[in-house]
Amino acid sequence: MANLPIVQYEEKIIETVEQNPVVVIIGETGSGKSTQLSRMFHRRGYSKSGIIGITQPRRVAAVSVARRVAQELRVQLGEEVGYAIRFEDRTSDNTRIKYLTDGVLLRESLANPELNQYSVIILDEAHERSLNTDILLGLMKRLVRLRASNLKVLVTSATLDGNKVSKFFSDCPVLTIPGKLYPVQIFYSNERPSSYLESSLKTAIDIHVGQPEGDILIFMTGQDDIEKLVSKLEDKVQALEEGSCMDAIILPLHGSLPPEMQVRVFSPSPPDCRRIIVATNIAETSLTVDGVVYVIDAGYVKQRQYNPSTGMYSLDVVQISKVQASQRAGRAGRTRPGKCYRLYPSKVYEDNFLDVTVPEIQRSSLAGCVLYLKSLDLPDIDILKFDFLDPPSSETLEDALKQLYLIDAIDEHGTITNVGQKMAELPLEPSLSRTLMEANNYGCLSQALTVAAMLSAETSLLSGWSKTEKKRKHTMSNLPDGSGFGDHIQLLQIFERWDQSDYDIGWCKDNDLQVRGMLFVKDIRKQLSQIMQKIAKGPLDVRAHGKSEEKQGYKNLRKALCVGFANQLAERKIHHNGYRTLGFKAQVVQVHPSSVLKPDELGKFPDYVVYHELIATPRPYMRNVCSVEMRWVMPIINKLGTLDVHKLSGGLGHIDEEPEEKAPDLPKKGANVAAIPDDRKSQIQAARERFLARKGKK
Ligand code: CDP
Ligand code: MG
Repeated sequence: MANLPIVQYEEKIIETVEQNPVVVIIGETGSGKSTQLSRMFHRRGYSKSGIIGITQPRRVAAVSVARRVAQELRVQLGEEVGYAIRFEDRTSDNTRIKYLTDGVLLRESLANPELNQYSVIILDEAHERSLNTDILLGLMKRLVRLRASNLKVLVTSATLDGNKVSKFFSDCPVLTIPGKLYPVQIFYSNERPSSYLESSLKTAIDIHVGQPEGDILIFMTGQDDIEKLVSKLEDKVQALEEGSCMDAIILPLHGSLPPEMQVRVFSPSPPDCRRIIVATNIAETSLTVDGVVYVIDAGYVKQRQYNPSTGMYSLDVVQISKVQASQRAGRAGRTRPGKCYRLYPSKVYEDNFLDVTVPEIQRSSLAGCVLYLKSLDLPDIDILKFDFLDPPSSETLEDALKQLYLIDAIDEHGTITNVGQKMAELPLEPSLSRTLMEANNYGCLSQALTVAAMLSAETSLLSGWSKTEKKRKHTMSNLPDGSGFGDHIQLLQIFERWDQSDYDIGWCKDNDLQVRGMLFVKDIRKQLSQIMQKIAKGPLDVRAHGKSEEKQGYKNLRKALCVGFANQLAERKIHHNGYRTLGFKAQVVQVHPSSVLKPDELGKFPDYVVYHELIATPRPYMRNVCSVEMRWVMPIINKLGTLDVHKLSGGLGHIDEEPEEKAPDLPKKGANVAAIPDDRKSQIQAARERFLARKGKK
């Protein structure tokens, strides 16, 4: 390990950290930031007064790096070195070095705002600019004032604009660790390929056949494409004439890979064998794969984008930024001079690629984030004035406030409610936490816990789920069908069947359900139950009991879902099977073809539904849909009518110091016109911009 660049700078790093509460460290990917900094502070005794915490935006990275460090220190994972990710905690009282996702650290700060258990907090991979890391950056600013004497904060990154972060933390020092990257030769293609998959395939085989030894790393946009390419590569390599070139092993690398498969990527290649690693963006900076000499970069990444004006998420394949392209190329020059094949013309790179990646905070729904900040109840924190490295748009903040109001998490003055306070304690999106709270009132908590757990399992449950529609229908045939009420009910029924089988692994296999995924659901469910018991301060009936509500048409559960998903409600268009979303912006949407909700014998869909997610693919679809009844919907429509965004955003009044910037209150409006008029919006926007400009000057 001593040869990793960061270790050679130990004295300098410790000295700087001794003298400053916050230090930014910029070091090339692979320089040892994630694995070595924590060890360094441990060695230097910082772990005596508290835990050394290192955040990672990605779950896999947290697990993989913790495992690696435990190995290096020859300790058992979960003892001195452990990790905590959502729904999975592998730490103990002995843990001194703790890897955790940024989301988990945020949760911890809810229970203990001063984070007193930590002596050092390292916000790693800050260049990823994940939403949670951005919030943490703001919180750390406050924390280092409060705990100046006994907390050290480090912000580390491969590419981040160090000066920007330094400015944010009152000009804290920036240490740049010179990396030892070898030169990487870049090749551009003459035009964009019609299929980036085929083009990657061809390039990889050309390299394998024609170039000297060295592993190949290929960037793909997602698991499906990775699986396709891996199987095509296997066929091609098999078909090569025996002895014409060296052997090759082909390895996938993505976030939902089982741990035992991930390990293979980090073990060195067998002699006389070339490894071809087909990876998602995860290999760009979060996981360093040694031995790579050739990189194939098609220039794409899959990105979730939220559009606050439609409330719609889209999972788009978008062009990477120039910074990302250079990170990808850099992966080829870690051990010796390498080559990077860009499957796009240099003109596209120059003219079309953004310089830097858009931070997640500017492309996410902020309902969860706003609820979290409100629940912190820190006298010196106001969400609308919250100090973000890059502030989100006022439209996104308003969208979040409206959502939270509709599900009773904040009142009409924008103050967090009792319900909201409890919701924030659940590690779930606000709509699901609200559903759980309501289900508890209706005596169907047990069922709601199951639905929330099924929706929260990060891996897909059906083996064929992500594949074609045909395959899914086939695999679904023996499973319950939601009894005409939709996907949430189907998820409940699947789990209840499994419960009745006594959690039989064979039953999962027979039904083509992923065993690992189902076991994870069971575990999540248990954890959520425990949190609910804690919130309710008393025992609740959370046992899964099969078929409990079936006879009543799952009324209570659907009613609870209707309350929790009040902002995700749609009404069927008359004489038509399309829907129109109710809420601030009406959208015309369809039920996603993968839904189990089908038209009845008269060819009609239910009049009202709630949906888990709106996705543009590119037609707007509702995914995971559950039928609800009109009498449950009416109170929500009435509430929409009373919405006054000016009051809600209370803090905006603060921002407008000049009285003339305050417009008269909005008149009460009906459901369909509840959206804020444009002039009003631009006033708010203008006020916010003035405020930000003033702040920027300070
Ligand atoms: O964080 P940074 O990119 O600066 O580097 P790192 O993740 O600490 O990696 C330092 C070295 O440890 C690299 O050579 C990695 O290949 C190696 N490593 C590993 O072999 N297995 C892991 N799970 C993580 C890192
Ligand atoms: Mg790292």
